[in-house]
Amino acid sequence: MEDSRHPFLEGLSKHRGVAPAVVVIFGASGDLTARKLVPAIYNLSVDNLLPNEFHLIGFGRKSIPDEAFRASMEDAIKQHSRRTLRGEIWQRVRAEMSYTSSDYADLKGYEELAKKIDALEASFGRPLQRIFYISTPPNVFEPIIECLGKSRLAKTNHGTQTASKVIIEKPFGRDLKSAQRLNRVINQVFDESQVFRIDHYLGKETVQDLLVQRFANAIFEPIWNHNYVECVQITVAEKLGVGSRGGYYDGSGALRDMIQNHTMQLVALTAMEAPKSLDPESIRDEKVKVIQAIQPLKLGVDQSDVVRARYASGLIDGKEVAAYLDEEGIPKDSFTETYAALRLKIDNARWKNVPFYIRSGKRMARRTSEIAIRFKRPPVNLFSEGGRFNVTDNTMVIQIQPNEGITLVMNSKIPGLETRMQPVKMHFRYATTFGSNTPEAYERLILDAMIGDGTLFIRGDETEASWKLIDPVLQHWEATKCDGLELYPSGSWGPKSSDAMLNEKGHEWRHSG
Ligand code: BG6
Repeated sequence: MEDSRHPFLEGLSKHRGVAPAVVVIFGASGDLTARKLVPAIYNLSVDNLLPNEFHLIGFGRKSIPDEAFRASMEDAIKQHSRRTLRGEIWQRVRAEMSYTSSDYADLKGYEELAKKIDALEASFGRPLQRIFYISTPPNVFEPIIECLGKSRLAKTNHGTQTASKVIIEKPFGRDLKSAQRLNRVINQVFDESQVFRIDHYLGKETVQDLLVQRFANAIFEPIWNHNYVECVQITVAEKLGVGSRGGYYDGSGALRDMIQNHTMQLVALTAMEAPKSLDPESIRDEKVKVIQAIQPLKLGVDQSDVVRARYASGLIDGKEVAAYLDEEGIPKDSFTETYAALRLKIDNARWKNVPFYIRSGKRMARRTSEIAIRFKRPPVNLFSEGGRFNVTDNTMVIQIQPNEGITLVMNSKIPGLETRMQPVKMHFRYATTFGSNTPEAYERLILDAMIGDGTLFIRGDETEASWKLIDPVLQHWEATKCDGLELYPSGSWGPKSSDAMLNEKGHEWRHSG
């Protein structure tokens, strides 16, 4: 599969020209640039999806000579690219890479950058669209945007091929107020059509397929509602702990790091109404509407829609791992959660009385991201008689990662002379049908931003709607500190109270215990 064209590419270059571009990565000496961004750009080049006139400028505080930057990006590709480094392609890409160092709040650095871009335009003999990729710690988001505005860099000619664009990594704010402020700062410099807020989950193939599965198949939509669905469970579980990211993570926690963004996007795509069309605004309008329809979460002691917990030591793959409090950079009085579970109620006609349970945690038993739609039992169940039959609930599982696919759990008769039944599974696996080596999320997202297609990016009002829902939870936890913060052993499926939250309504997590 290494060299053949993936189905992803069929017809793509034909229809989607990318205007000549210069991509400036702020935070170019950071981890994300090496692990994801530059490998993605390299792979776009392998697939011939970059324009002929293309240049990449790394921008960072550290002073790095161009040659050293190129050499470290070569190592990054060797280490992290899904495809091996090919000499002739790499030579072309490396020749169009350079580095600029400056303090992020120093306007002079941006004036230098502007001169460099002018020189590039002169040498290419045409204007370039300027793509500013902000992949820095969040404390410098605002100075960067303001400097882009004050310098000549953020052209406002939106709607044209050479319009500047800004791509912003998470975290987008740390609560509603800071997100609103960041939106205001951005919108003073850029039109919303020029803003691309990244949520890398939206770049995952399986997440994009959700809309296709829901709206291109006539069999699902009629049963995708409270008449047939008993509950929805969304799990985003990781085996990894916080590793060397303790400094960042302790100021964040599972609710901010995973639930507010990635998991809420999965909720929105699962629960939204059909958009009017595939146009980015129609899709994002529907996502905002459904997030806004989620009822405020109950935070009482007896009646709570939220659970939080932190990992203790335990076994992962048979090896003893440290408790969160013993990880590097974690203060002993930390009350940061590494696991959060929420029970959402969506106040609309489609989802009346259907709980959406969502959870995300680190150091869990298994790495899995999945959406499980659990269906109601038949209205009259012939097979309920005296507990003789082992009837199971029908469940549709959309496996986001790993082993991407869709599984339908059904009841089936065990062949034999008497009627006995057993749950069976019908599987569809992306890798079996389409082959492996699919493009990484960042390839799709960077390509879409260069084209100017915002469908897979979060709109300002979307992020605010999501913060609005979780803000009271953050405030409550801030006030109650360790009170109510449970422990779960590393390598388990999380705390007991999470199971109890589901049991209240007679439900169970798909994986528990
Ligand atoms: C990031 C979080 O956004 O997503 C990390 O900051 C997390 O804490 C990561 O590990 C998970 O992404 P993926 O693609 O591995 O599921």
